[in-house]
Amino acid sequence: MIKAAEKFVSDVRAIYEREDDMETRFDQIRPLLQELLKDEELKEASKAWPFRNEPEKGYIENLLFYEDPDHKFVLNSLLKKPHESTPVHDHAHTWTLYGVLRGTETVIRFERTDVVENETPSEDHADLRKISEHQVTPGYIDFVRPYDIHVEHTGEEPVVGVIFRDQRVGGFLQNYYDADTGKIKKTKGPTQIPYDLEA
Ligand SMILES: [Fe+2]
Repeated sequence: MIKAAEKFVSDVRAIYEREDDMETRFDQIRPLLQELLKDEELKEASKAWPFRNEPEKGYIENLLFYEDPDHKFVLNSLLKKPHESTPVHDHAHTWTLYGVLRGTETVIRFERTDVVENETPSEDHADLRKISEHQVTPGYIDFVRPYDIHVEHTGEEPVVGVIFRDQRVGGFLQNYYDADTGKIKKTKGPTQIPYDLEA
């Protein structure tokens, strides 16, 4: 594996072994991902990674570089072509640090306005309100906590993201939201494609 990624994994393992709380772990992992996003060897290697998403046909994949045998965390990439959008979505119960390695894009976050305290939220409809919109550049990290709702739109250039997750996705249902009607669609999330992270 690329040296910087190897160091990232071993530093993350040390954090997992020291800290039990997920919020604390992610706070400490964030600066490590920040460092990883600066790595020239990683940036260079990323030029060979394949752009194969077809969101309009419902196909989204993640390259899967590493899955920890003990702690289950993973290192992924998401590649987007110019003028490509993710669905408005959440990552279900999982925790994510989404980092931009190359390219510029717009990240929009939403909140649900239909959730009543102490009541189970509807599983098929959500009222969404936009809470932030950021133009993001390489080095940017979005901390996506469980059920945080968001979308990414690329512009003129392709975007390469490097993602740290507390676990592998693709094997359970996540929510996709129709931003206009509020309709929720349950879907399995990105297909995981094992990929060697070599220089
Ligand atoms: Fe996401």
